[in-house]
Amino acid sequence: MSKSPNLVLPAIGGIALMLGAAYGFSSRNYGADTIALLEDRVEKAEARVSSASDQAKAEAERATALELAVAEAQEQAAKGTNLTSPAPQMEGAYGLGRVAMAEEIAAWDVDVLPDGRGLPVGSGNAFDGEEVFADKCASCHGDFAEGVDNWPVLSGGFDTLADKDPVKTVGSYWPHLSTVYDYVYRSMPFGEAGTLTPDETYAIVAYILYSNDLIDDEFELTHENLGSFEMHNKDGFVIDDRPELEYVAWRSEPCMENCKEQVEITMRSVFLVETPAEGGTNSMMNPAKVEGLPSFSSDGPSFIPVAAPKPVKAAVEPAPEPAQSDDGEAMIAAGKKVFKKCKACHQVGDGAKNKTGPHLNGVFGRTFGSVDGFKYSNTFKAAMEEGRVWDEASLAEFLSKPKAYMKGTKMSFSGLKKDGDLDAINAYLASFGN
Ligand code: HEC
Ligand code: HEC
Repeated sequence: MSKSPNLVLPAIGGIALMLGAAYGFSSRNYGADTIALLEDRVEKAEARVSSASDQAKAEAERATALELAVAEAQEQAAKGTNLTSPAPQMEGAYGLGRVAMAEEIAAWDVDVLPDGRGLPVGSGNAFDGEEVFADKCASCHGDFAEGVDNWPVLSGGFDTLADKDPVKTVGSYWPHLSTVYDYVYRSMPFGEAGTLTPDETYAIVAYILYSNDLIDDEFELTHENLGSFEMHNKDGFVIDDRPELEYVAWRSEPCMENCKEQVEITMRSVFLVETPAEGGTNSMMNPAKVEGLPSFSSDGPSFIPVAAPKPVKAAVEPAPEPAQSDDGEAMIAAGKKVFKKCKACHQVGDGAKNKTGPHLNGVFGRTFGSVDGFKYSNTFKAAMEEGRVWDEASLAEFLSKPKAYMKGTKMSFSGLKKDGDLDAINAYLASFGN
């Protein structure tokens, strides 16, 4: 179908409306646009029918429904093509707009509520989801939802919510699974929103749960069980009860009893700030002088003692770098802080488990890629076969530029830039066994 009328007609329609005349045109334009839109959708639906055989039936039904809608719209448009026909009688002052079609409402009505209401029929599991995720999401969110560069991390961070710098992920933070479905279905992949089918979305959501260790890979997520799935942080939010509690209190009659008889000004603001017309702010001393009140001059307000000059530091002593400190405990403490950058993916200490990355107990003296049950990348597998062993030098080199030191590693971490950090992390990891 030719696209050019689509481009021209809306423009003409816009002008016609602006001139406040030629209603026939605008209604005709509306018809042509609607047809174009619906035909486009039919075309797309048909293309999908031929490619996705398992969904062919459902899509064919949709295509038929859309074709019917096209026919209906064509009929409507045919009525409106008479250029001299009067303006359509519509509600409202301007006679514009029309009642939305059921199909249009259905197309926008995709929200999903926490209890699962609004979910389309469908299902998926992490096993299938892994493939779709690798294809459509991993370029930004990482193969394991660990986030690439600055793109959002979707997994891990479970014990960081109380930290100063919490890692808020779908797994650690989001209270309802419905939000994940809804968000992904509506808005991802970034830049290609609206291209996922419901089954793909179920599979992806299952995969995100799986990469957060919240389900195993056989778990089948469906429109029936999604609403009752309990998220890790479901109780971590405070229900907003202000409408019931606070607003009521504020709206009651203000107390006007026992008021002071007289009001007395005891102080004035020191600075007056004005916003000049050209932007920015000007501030100046408040020039007002009131009997008995402190006064202000360019030397400062009369009641604030002149500030003593700040002592000038003779030499700026550098903050002690952890590297220069020979106090082992301090180093380990510094390393613990640095390890926050690793925590989203690695665990250490008693009961440490493999997460996105392998546990890091006893890493020094450990063969590369040798933790049981962790699926390493090929580059780590090769290093294991060569029998390479972690020591402080190799770890520092790896951590300063993971992707350069181990080409093809799936550790999505840009690296530690400071020598002090590298020494500190070495000390910290060494404290978990050699
Ligand atoms: C081109 C990069 C890109 C791709 C591909 C991509 N995303 Fe995203 N994703 C983003 C960005 C950017 C944000 C943050 C958007 C914002 O905050 O407005 C985001 C946010 C998210 C979030 C919310 C994270 C949070 O904690 O707020 C989820 C969940 C998500 N994406 C899932 C997916 C899934 C599933 C796919 C594949 C179907 C996908 N994304 C593909 C870039 C991408
Ligand atoms: C985004 C997740 C992520 C972050 C953040 C991360 N790692 Fe990793 N790390 C991994 C993955 C995944 C692997 C496995 C690499 C492979 O198989 O290619 C790995 C591997 C390792 C290994 C090799 C282990 C072995 O058994 O051979 C060490 C050591 C390591 N990481 C240390 C760190 C340290 C220290 C930090 C923080 C400074 C860190 N990682 C940050 C995901 C991460």
